[in-house]
Amino acid sequence: MLTSREIRRQFLDFFEQKQHRIVESAPVVAHGDPTLMFINAGMNQFKDVFLGTGTRDYSRAVDTQKCIRVSGKHNDLEEVGYDTYHHTFFEMLGNWSFGDYYKREAIDWSWELLTGVWKLDPERIHATVYRTDDEAYDMWKDHLPESRIHRFDEKDNFWEMGATGPCGPCSELHYDRTPDKNGASLVNADDPRVIEIWNLVFMQYNRLENGDLQSLSTTHVDTGMGFERITAVLQGVNSNYDTDVFQPIISRIAKLSGKSYSSETNDEASVAMRVMADHVRTLAFAIADGAIPGNTGQGYVLRRVLRRASRYARNIGFTTPVLCDLVAILVESMGDVFPEIAEQQHTIERIVKAEEESFLLTLENGLKRIEEMIEAEGQISGANAFLLYDTFGFPFDLTALIARERGIEVDEEGFNEHMQAQKERSRSAQKDQLPGTNRNLHASRTPRNSDSAYRGTGDG
Ligand code: SER
Repeated sequence: MLTSREIRRQFLDFFEQKQHRIVESAPVVAHGDPTLMFINAGMNQFKDVFLGTGTRDYSRAVDTQKCIRVSGKHNDLEEVGYDTYHHTFFEMLGNWSFGDYYKREAIDWSWELLTGVWKLDPERIHATVYRTDDEAYDMWKDHLPESRIHRFDEKDNFWEMGATGPCGPCSELHYDRTPDKNGASLVNADDPRVIEIWNLVFMQYNRLENGDLQSLSTTHVDTGMGFERITAVLQGVNSNYDTDVFQPIISRIAKLSGKSYSSETNDEASVAMRVMADHVRTLAFAIADGAIPGNTGQGYVLRRVLRRASRYARNIGFTTPVLCDLVAILVESMGDVFPEIAEQQHTIERIVKAEEESFLLTLENGLKRIEEMIEAEGQISGANAFLLYDTFGFPFDLTALIARERGIEVDEEGFNEHMQAQKERSRSAQKDQLPGTNRNLHASRTPRNSDSAYRGTGDG
């Protein structure tokens, strides 16, 4: 069986042999792009090349890119733990052409790698194309019968980085894991038996702020393959969490908690272990690249992720910090590929532990209060959601998650009104200060969590 390390290597080698330059992953914390908080795709670091505002001294590139998808246009947070193939942090294997090759090579090489090098069963592969892309459709006919080429619309087959930026029609490869290979109707149906493994984007446009599409001066290729997904496929397991990428972490959690893990069920312990294993990767990689949990922006996204993980850990009996104890095992399995997590292991552990400690101080009481609220009102009002946020440090999405699990409503609109009112109170308190005084010292009580950060902004 191929190890994940070998799979990553083989991807890079394959494209290197096709004259691609192997480049480093960009840091996962987006520095210098106001439209992004975290890197959400391999192409982010090449955005300037696509837009024609930057150049490289190579026209073909290949890499594995660290990605975080926790907010904004590409946000997979809510699926994590409950399904087998979405993550907040993942690696995206990608190959690029900057004004060099286009659809023909992108399609043929993806086929060659999957079926020629990795020997995947061609009968399990489906391709999708953008509904009007006859060119890509015809190219796939050289490899696939028409029953396994599908047309989809913008939602599935037109890829955009964010609200603005490079974009274009795309062609995806899906892998059919149904026993009798009849998964055609499950393509793009959010079903774990047929999952997308690779996306080939044919970059052609720039989406402008007014929504218009502007043609790029030349065409490019941007592909992205889910590393954990292809590893699951090549290792013959149904869940990404059963690969050697996640198993060391899951086993450690199982050992520490004394509970057993099942990949087949969504019992409380197994969901919690998946969430913890996923979230600790986001925390470790983001902190290694310079973000720290806090009240605004990227920091608040990390805080939400940590608190979500912490609450799941509490569900399986951890009442003291535990995420910090998982960093070592992550470093052991990935520290050679991404040395930054090894170099900063102790910093990551210290920051995660301090965050866990501070949240655990209020978590227990917050959970008790939620129970009281549910018992008294059968729902969580906006005022109560705000109280949980302001007094117990519960990000709104944590409250919403608990409410969902309990099958009750939480008033998001009411919560937002309270947030807004608090923001205005704090603004007018600042305005009341005499000119020249230090507003930070004299302002009335500072909100525990800043509103601007409560939801990530237009980020991937
Ligand atoms: N940018 C595309 C994606 O993220 C392909 O790399 O899916």
